[in-house]
Amino acid sequence: MGITCQNGCFKLDAKNTSYLFSVIEDGYLAHVYFGKKIPDQNADYLLRLNEHPLPPPQGDRDRAVFLDHIPLEYPCMGIGDFREPCLQVLDKDGMSACDIRYVSHTIEKGKHKLPGLPATFGSENDCTTLTIHCADTHLNLEVQLLYTVFEDLDVITRSVRVVNHAKDAVTLRRVLSACVDFDGSGYDMITLHGAWARERHIIRTPVTPGTHAASSMRGESSHQDNPFLALLSRNATEDTGEVYGFNFVYSGNFLAQAEGCPYDKTRVVMGIHPQDFGWLLEEGESFVAPEVVMVYSDEGIGKMTRTFHDLYRNHLIRGEYKDKKRPILINNWEATYFDFDTDKLISIAREAAKSGIEMLVMDDGWFGNRNSDNCALGDWVVNEDKIKGGLKHLVDEVNKLGLKFGIWFEPEMISPDSDLYRAHPDWCIHIPGRQRTLCREQLVLDLSRKEVRDYVYDSVSKILSSANIEYVKWDMNRQLTDVGSASLPASRQRELWHRYVLGVYDLMERLVTDFPHLLLENCSGGGARFDPGMLYYSPQIWCSDDTDAMERLRIQHGTSMVYPVSAIGAHVSDVPNHTVGRVTPFATRGNVALSGTFGYELDITHIPQDDRDLIPQQVATYHKYNDLIRTGDLYRIGDLCRDSSYDCWSFVAKDKSEVLMTYVQVLGRANYQSRCVRLKGLQRDAVYVLEETGQEFSGAVLMQGGFPVTGVYGDFSSKLFHFVRKK
Ligand code: DGJ
Repeated sequence: MGITCQNGCFKLDAKNTSYLFSVIEDGYLAHVYFGKKIPDQNADYLLRLNEHPLPPPQGDRDRAVFLDHIPLEYPCMGIGDFREPCLQVLDKDGMSACDIRYVSHTIEKGKHKLPGLPATFGSENDCTTLTIHCADTHLNLEVQLLYTVFEDLDVITRSVRVVNHAKDAVTLRRVLSACVDFDGSGYDMITLHGAWARERHIIRTPVTPGTHAASSMRGESSHQDNPFLALLSRNATEDTGEVYGFNFVYSGNFLAQAEGCPYDKTRVVMGIHPQDFGWLLEEGESFVAPEVVMVYSDEGIGKMTRTFHDLYRNHLIRGEYKDKKRPILINNWEATYFDFDTDKLISIAREAAKSGIEMLVMDDGWFGNRNSDNCALGDWVVNEDKIKGGLKHLVDEVNKLGLKFGIWFEPEMISPDSDLYRAHPDWCIHIPGRQRTLCREQLVLDLSRKEVRDYVYDSVSKILSSANIEYVKWDMNRQLTDVGSASLPASRQRELWHRYVLGVYDLMERLVTDFPHLLLENCSGGGARFDPGMLYYSPQIWCSDDTDAMERLRIQHGTSMVYPVSAIGAHVSDVPNHTVGRVTPFATRGNVALSGTFGYELDITHIPQDDRDLIPQQVATYHKYNDLIRTGDLYRIGDLCRDSSYDCWSFVAKDKSEVLMTYVQVLGRANYQSRCVRLKGLQRDAVYVLEETGQEFSGAVLMQGGFPVTGVYGDFSSKLFHFVRKK
């Protein structure tokens, strides 16, 4: 049993991790320990309660001081803990304080679904769930703290459910999903930051006194920040030291914050961003906060990464493609932008088929009057001037060439210049009387409204049912502004941020339920919604609009910090690269895209013959290694933050029988010998054969002495090395 309780001490045991908290005086829940597995059931001495001002009730004169010192499991606003709170209300009298105390608990095998929300899943055989029932007796508010332990992984998940048992309504002003008060200070923090076309660059900073956050108030998880935060010991490296990873299974506004606190403590909180949040709870209603995944590693950042990957590959991603190789696709966006028709697409498909490419994806521009990005979103009717002969004809022709067919949608949006807008000008998110703020000349549909969702779903499903469409790229190209709904009362307007995200989830759930064989790829102007919430619906997400192989090193490296490589949308595109103008070798573009879903995004009918000739080889390489890349353990060998002249990473089979190492030389080096890189994660006493040359090495020497990389010459060059364990 992964969860036990004795005398008010709760112990949650994951694979090599223990997490302890206790019910202390007056029913407060105090956090005791999070780290490497310990045998003790009770370690309350760590709370050092006798060193604080006397705990209540004896020391009631200093209750506030006491609460501001102790590590609280779920801190509330306004009663004495002055650090970042998790729960804040606005009650009928206009008060914001709340105060929850332990009432009871249950421990069950398995894991519950969170209604309407994406979440990790497990069975009675691999996880156990603890529900702590707390109450604020003044407000008559119940707060359930939910914990699930995955017993074969170093993973604990958390979420929160709030139930209003009072006659009067109460407004929730913040309901964060998790808080952990770490003992001591002097930690570092890793977060993932960027902007359009340079998403998820890794930033490591010391946590000094005060708050340090990654956050989004953009209505989506965003290009700029990712709902991830790792707290780590200052000496932690890729392979050593303690690392605590937190990831929010949510796709809207979020706060991921570490706080250096005055009394030698560090508080981490994660949840829906409290700014501009509100949720009215009438009598008997409940609110569920999305899930936070907590991962512990005692072997550095790399092990944290591998734990997230295992969890997400096995307990978050669903559907037919969960464990399957994805079809190699060719997408026409960078090939044609809006300038295409049936003939052009068929010519691309014909050429692609000769090279072994398996699917054609028709991107933006096939519907309504859409010949540029300034109109027609919402008018999901095939433009037969472009798609001559209709969609079914095109799909059938592509299928006859042996390719599957995929299509692009941007279901959440509406263009002011569209039939939909002309018919329903109030269907977008807007504030009546205010100018509607455009972005890419479009507005966002109010998906909190059922009739709007139904319209969107009917339009999308009608198209999907009209032909043999096997893939959808679900795009979302702007952030939310003027957040108001024509259908919500004033008392519920602040709910729109979250109701919008719930609406998106509702649409995606309907889609994957009704079209179980569909491969869904999420996208948001590139990688603005690369988060675990989206992974619950789509096994892959377009990682970035920046397809330059060198830029992709940092973007994919940062993305793979948390998210499995099997989910990272990566394509080979043409040069000079459309975003940065760089010219890199076709082979390197292929080698970098291999560490992702792999596909092409170029006009195959126009690229140089030499490049075209390489495609069948790249296709074969993909088929040879994709099982290993998709299911293996990722080990980062190079570190672009320390040495940006090269990058190197590897995929080691779970049984350690083979390893594929990718080496990329960013800039050529004058007058150096080969570079010796140390492999990781191999079987020390096994012999590995380098497939290319037949040379033999022990696992130990490859890991300790290293492997001299040769044959990589010039800027932007790269090479794959495949080692196979000798039988
Ligand atoms: C943004 C996406 O990231 C691109 O790949 C492309 O689909 C465009 N939108 C189309 O408008």
